[in-house]
Amino acid sequence: MKILLLGSGGREHALAWKIVQSDKCEKLFIAPGNAGTAAVGENVAIKADDFEALKQFCVENNIDMVVVGPEDPLVKGVYDDFRDDERTKNIPVIGPSKSGAVLEGSKDFAKRFMKRHNIPTAKYETFDGTTLEEGLKFLETLKAPYVLKADGLCAGKGVLIVPTLEEAKKELKDMLGGMFGNASARVVIEEFLSGIECSVFVLTDGKNYKILPEAKDYKRIGEHDTGLNTGGMGSVTPVPFADEAWMKKVDERIIRPTVEGLAEEGIDYKGFIFFGLINVEGEPMVIEYNCRMGDPETESVMLRLKSDIVDLFEGVAAGDLDKRSIEFDPRAAVCVMLVSGGYPEAYQKGYVINGLEKIEGSVVFHSGTAMKDGNVVTNGGRVIAVSSYGKDKDEALAKSFAEAQKIEYEGKYFRRDIGQDL
Ligand code: AMP
Ligand code: GLY
Repeated sequence: MKILLLGSGGREHALAWKIVQSDKCEKLFIAPGNAGTAAVGENVAIKADDFEALKQFCVENNIDMVVVGPEDPLVKGVYDDFRDDERTKNIPVIGPSKSGAVLEGSKDFAKRFMKRHNIPTAKYETFDGTTLEEGLKFLETLKAPYVLKADGLCAGKGVLIVPTLEEAKKELKDMLGGMFGNASARVVIEEFLSGIECSVFVLTDGKNYKILPEAKDYKRIGEHDTGLNTGGMGSVTPVPFADEAWMKKVDERIIRPTVEGLAEEGIDYKGFIFFGLINVEGEPMVIEYNCRMGDPETESVMLRLKSDIVDLFEGVAAGDLDKRSIEFDPRAAVCVMLVSGGYPEAYQKGYVINGLEKIEGSVVFHSGTAMKDGNVVTNGGRVIAVSSYGKDKDEALAKSFAEAQKIEYEGKYFRRDIGQDL
């Protein structure tokens, strides 16, 4: 098969690494990819949301399958665009339709969906410019801290957790006043939940589903979860509290009702569902849905997937995922993210990265890199993920930290406390 993968981050490099291990993959293209994906497949200079150019490329190159990494093309309807075009209607796209991607694209939709299907989540109300007064009153009924979420996509920046009622009221006014543009024209206010978070991933054909290894990610820039939020500084799988009994609750109360709810509502969903969960005194609750794999979770989860991922994708496309097998590596896997100095605030790009050839026994996934004058250079806030196996998380982490020392570029930073809280 000839496969086209969309995206350009560490998640996509990890997916590419796994896809090319399949005997079923004859050739992999990545649009647009990065310096890492160029080493496992062929990068194509087309943006992941330039649907017309992507379709033309697929026709000209006899592409058999499209796999979508990031949410942006999904929320913009890449699945529907391929399906509704005579030229590409027979090329399966692994990723939900536009109506399925709304689970991530609108927090208000996701909350209403969960309510309809009795899926455990924090209590909430949604407000817009015409109901600001009601919103301010609703805040008064809640206890601190206050959780305010822009309804639409905000590149991970749309959630505010504020300590006082006064600040919450001010933020609500600012958000509805256009703080995140149109994305915050509606704001979801919800009850604060206290617990440890865990990401659970499912691959579904719309009827059957397979649960992938769960992972925990580390969002803050500083050690011991301090400082600003980032795209993610590392990940660990498995997560100790996500044992068989807990995962059974997740399956029965959350995953099954979600997949069945999508089918009942006639929403075409063939792809990954990412359940952002929180463990509240032993009970799993949903913080958010995403319509794709997590980043940096994919950079550890892919290490633990033993089965042929292309076979699973074929099952998604054919609707017979129940007939495909899925097996996991029993070892732990982790990823430690090396980032640019200054990230997640302003940072420089273009620094030469040295030492990549010295890495032994770990897997390096490129997040934000590019090729310049024959060198691999930094090209994003998150730069390189160093992923490792171990008999347990501590062994895997020790390996990633040791290998991370060998990679050098100006301003390199990584968290040395990944996995310590588990
Ligand atoms: P989201 O984009 O919805 O995942 O929110 C970003 C982060 O905010 C989550 O990963 C949580 O750490 C935190 N968060 C969101 N909603 C809540 C909530 N109801 N209670 C506590 N923390 C939350
Ligand atoms: N790791 C969180 C995300 O991918 O959104």
